[in-house]
Amino acid sequence: MSISIGIHDLSFATGEFVLAHTALAAHNGTDIGKYHVGIGQESMSVPAADEDIVTLGAAAAAPVIARHGASRIRTVIFATESSIDQAKAAGVYVHSLLGLPSAVRVVELKQACYGATAALQFAVGLVRRDPAQQVLVIASDVSKYELDSPGEATQGAAAVAMLVGVDPALVRIEDPSGVFTADVMDFWRPNYRDEALVDGQESVNAYLQAVEGTWKDYSEQGGRSLDEFAAFCYHQPFTKMAYKAHRHLLNTCGHDTDQDRVARDLGLTTAYNRVIGNSYTASVYLGLAALLDQADDLGGRPVAFLSYGSGSVAEFFAGTVAAGYRDHLRTKEHRAAIERRTPVDYAGYRALHEQRLPTDGSDHATPAQSTGPYRLAGISGHKRIYETR
Ligand code: COA
Repeated sequence: MSISIGIHDLSFATGEFVLAHTALAAHNGTDIGKYHVGIGQESMSVPAADEDIVTLGAAAAAPVIARHGASRIRTVIFATESSIDQAKAAGVYVHSLLGLPSAVRVVELKQACYGATAALQFAVGLVRRDPAQQVLVIASDVSKYELDSPGEATQGAAAVAMLVGVDPALVRIEDPSGVFTADVMDFWRPNYRDEALVDGQESVNAYLQAVEGTWKDYSEQGGRSLDEFAAFCYHQPFTKMAYKAHRHLLNTCGHDTDQDRVARDLGLTTAYNRVIGNSYTASVYLGLAALLDQADDLGGRPVAFLSYGSGSVAEFFAGTVAAGYRDHLRTKEHRAAIERRTPVDYAGYRALHEQRLPTDGSDHATPAQSTGPYRLAGISGHKRIYETR
């Protein structure tokens, strides 16, 4: 019998501030129905000037280390597409902030929003090689588009930390996996830009093509049939995308696409993304968190995952929810992470959006705006300086 490997713990963190879509709509004259119904977003997290992917990632991972210790962790994989350095892995800063042992390898992974799923699958492989080890996977991103662009309504920020090991308390990752790669320019961020470039319509089409491609491969690899799944966790650049993707999958498989079925299959997975916004690599796992935190007992039931990263790489895979998983959830903390955010008005959000760290090596202290456990204190000589509270 093959050993059971998967997600043993999951915790997330999000930004200090929140911008309601009503404020964005009032600024740009958009009918709020477009945001609330058309793209399915209500608000988006906005990081403070002293937050970044490192502080968010460390805040997400700290409770995991507090609960399980670090003695079995020999690998940290940090997935992001809003990288802060072309050479040094952001996870090395997190390793230091969390006081992890030196006998650990740390690496950063990138392929748009898909990176965390690659990290999860690589982690499963490492644990299979040595079941005594655990891998800490961190997905952390700040989604940033140009002001007054169509993408502006689909920003957000969050980090998810997952502990991967044997006999997982939450979700066992199953073996068959459907993968798909296509060279498309739907979303990208050249090294010289802070904000991503996106061709929105192209990204929707490329995503749907990837749904079809991954499902075909998943079926050929001997995967489950569609009707076996209790729920579907999709990557959610905006929550409406999950609905589009699922309808497309049902159509592809010759199933009815009645609204009730679609809502039943994925409705619960959208609760956190709807108010946090796009968190790129973390998004599909925020979907899982929302599902586990809200569903009636899913113990023993299979859940489907569709992870999509523009450019594009995608994967369709399944996980079986562990019996007794509800005793290991962090539902209260997750709700608190969302509720603790301070609302900003449009002007406040715009100021945060426009702030930049100096690029000339000068000393710069960031304003102390955040209230989380870790903060970016400043930059000096091109080096980021972090602090623990
Ligand atoms: N009430 C209800 N729905 C409304 C509406 C209203 N008043 N006004 C518009 N809508 C609907 C539209 O009909 C459309 O629905 P549909 O997609 O089901 O046809 C939806 O709202 C969006 O409208 P659209 O005109 O397409 O919006 P847009 O040009 O501003 O683009 C995105 C929307 C999502 C494509 C854009 O925000 C974007 O590019 N975001 C980034 C996407 C991304 O991250 N991609 C990469 C990862 S996959």
